[in-house]
Amino acid sequence: MRIKKAVIPAAGLGTRMLPETKTIPKEMLPIGDRPSIQYIVEEAVAAGIEDILIITNRSKAAMEDYFDYHPELEERLLRAGREEDAALVRRTADMANVMFVRQKQTLGLGHAIWTARRFVGSEPFAVLLGDDVMAAARPVIGQLDEVADAERCSVVGVQAVSLDDIGKYCSLDVSHYHDRVFRVHNMVEKPKPSEVFSPYAILGRYVLSPDIFPILENLSPGYGGEIQLTDALAVLARRGEMLAVEFEGKRYDTGSLEGYLQCVIELSLQNPRCGEALKTYIKELARTL
Ligand code: UTP
Repeated sequence: MRIKKAVIPAAGLGTRMLPETKTIPKEMLPIGDRPSIQYIVEEAVAAGIEDILIITNRSKAAMEDYFDYHPELEERLLRAGREEDAALVRRTADMANVMFVRQKQTLGLGHAIWTARRFVGSEPFAVLLGDDVMAAARPVIGQLDEVADAERCSVVGVQAVSLDDIGKYCSLDVSHYHDRVFRVHNMVEKPKPSEVFSPYAILGRYVLSPDIFPILENLSPGYGGEIQLTDALAVLARRGEMLAVEFEGKRYDTGSLEGYLQCVIELSLQNPRCGEALKTYIKELARTL
């Protein structure tokens, strides 16, 4: 059975994007004509996922409004003969069954996932981090789901990062299994140089067994004093219950200023509403740099 439920943790404080994130959730920052969270929801929908739980906090209600109807606006657009715009607005609320739960304390990504346990129930589920936007020909979460479905196993999405950067990620101890698939034996969050297993890092996409919940429930705080998802995944990995897929696609860390700006530029170049004009502008600008 292919997964039907996804969890999008989006309750982090976004301190790398201050002062902007003091009042506006980083997930609502625009990538061209859409907030970044819409790209994440669209990736899940394109992979056939129907029910989506976004984990928020008390200062992120703008996301709840975004995925709701806006009758007054839609009516005004229709009265003005702007059917296409009205349909754009309606689609944000209708594209999936989007639900919300609040993480009442910012205790870490592992804790955020744990708040989704009642929504998830007893089936495998997808996790898409709210600040990792993917540009890919095939939805990245669907690439993981194919392997999870065939192997009946939890799967994480990985790519090799530079050894200078691996200390910002979680480093995986892997051995090659077949094609783009690896067995995962262990992992470490934000490793010191002496702790690095390999350049393979998890980049924001997971298909997980609900077996993760009892592990999360009994976890002590790890790196940075937070309940770390990596520490729970490491338990599954050491039990031999985890695979990794080296996914095809490009990942943007929209929770960092540089990653966000790269994402805005590259995805706007592909946007039919502005791509050609932007390309001309960037070429002209580059001549003056
Ligand atoms: P990050 O560390 O990238 O996000 O967490 P952050 O905490 O918002 O960022 P900075 O470092 O302060 O800028 C990875 C993912 O986990 C979520 C974040 O929203 C992000 O999608 N998260 C993190 C939660 O949902 N709850 C938490 O307690 C922590």
